[in-house]
Amino acid sequence: MVEIKKLTGLMGAEITGVRINDGIPDDLADVLRHALADHQMIALRGLHPTIRQQKQLTEVFGPVMKLPYVEPTPEDDEVIAVLKEAEECNTGVFGGDWHSDFSFLENPPAGSVLSAIEVPEVGGDTVWASQVAAYASLPEKLKKIVDGRRAVHIGAPYGVTHQPPEEERSGASIRMIRGDPDADQEILHPAVITETLSGRRSLFLNPIYTTRFEDMSEAESAPILAEIYKHCTRPDFSCRFRWRAGDVAIWDNRTSLHYATNDYDGIRRLLYRTTFSADPPAA
Ligand SMILES: [Fe+2]
Repeated sequence: MVEIKKLTGLMGAEITGVRINDGIPDDLADVLRHALADHQMIALRGLHPTIRQQKQLTEVFGPVMKLPYVEPTPEDDEVIAVLKEAEECNTGVFGGDWHSDFSFLENPPAGSVLSAIEVPEVGGDTVWASQVAAYASLPEKLKKIVDGRRAVHIGAPYGVTHQPPEEERSGASIRMIRGDPDADQEILHPAVITETLSGRRSLFLNPIYTTRFEDMSEAESAPILAEIYKHCTRPDFSCRFRWRAGDVAIWDNRTSLHYATNDYDGIRRLLYRTTFSADPPAA
């Protein structure tokens, strides 16, 4: 029997009783889609999916999307190996700051499925923060600023002019593709979006890629964005997931931020990631 248990008060849920070996029936798919809409991140423990099963699971939420700027696995260009080798010490980690993935795209990823293959016994947790909860409790003066306003996102690290210096990049095991002039373009998205299934409103601002509000300069936007980021990454809206091999986590990339902890130097960590798309984020 499928059971859904919240991981914290406001973010994430663990779903037990899910078996996908013989395909994913429509009623189960429906339960998973609604659970994701309600909790922004869902975890399925001990699923041990094959790549084929992981892609089937991904399809439940939307068409599988090839992620740009990250070199995929040689076996399958829709799969990314999130890997840090034991030798990669004192280096950044892929996703080691609060962010959502690639919000600077005209149609940013709707979400991702991450499957743990080899993980440390301790360390390497992933943290998510619900931007639905963050919006709900956003102070009124900030709500007035973000409601009905668009924000500018730029993929500077993948563009030509602002590539990070070598020593600030994440480890060598994930090959990033940079130098794309398109990534230097300003892309506009609503600062507050509506989640399609639940109809709930969510902040959609990205500490890495959002540079300013549409009708404000970077200097004018900076203190407002700083205040919002302080609010929207509060532990109150977050959950921290401790991985075991075989676990799968699925997150909504539009209604949550995530953060990869980097506290396991000397231990190899490997997860497979697939990504799904949807219509562009809408107010
Ligand atoms: Fe990420």
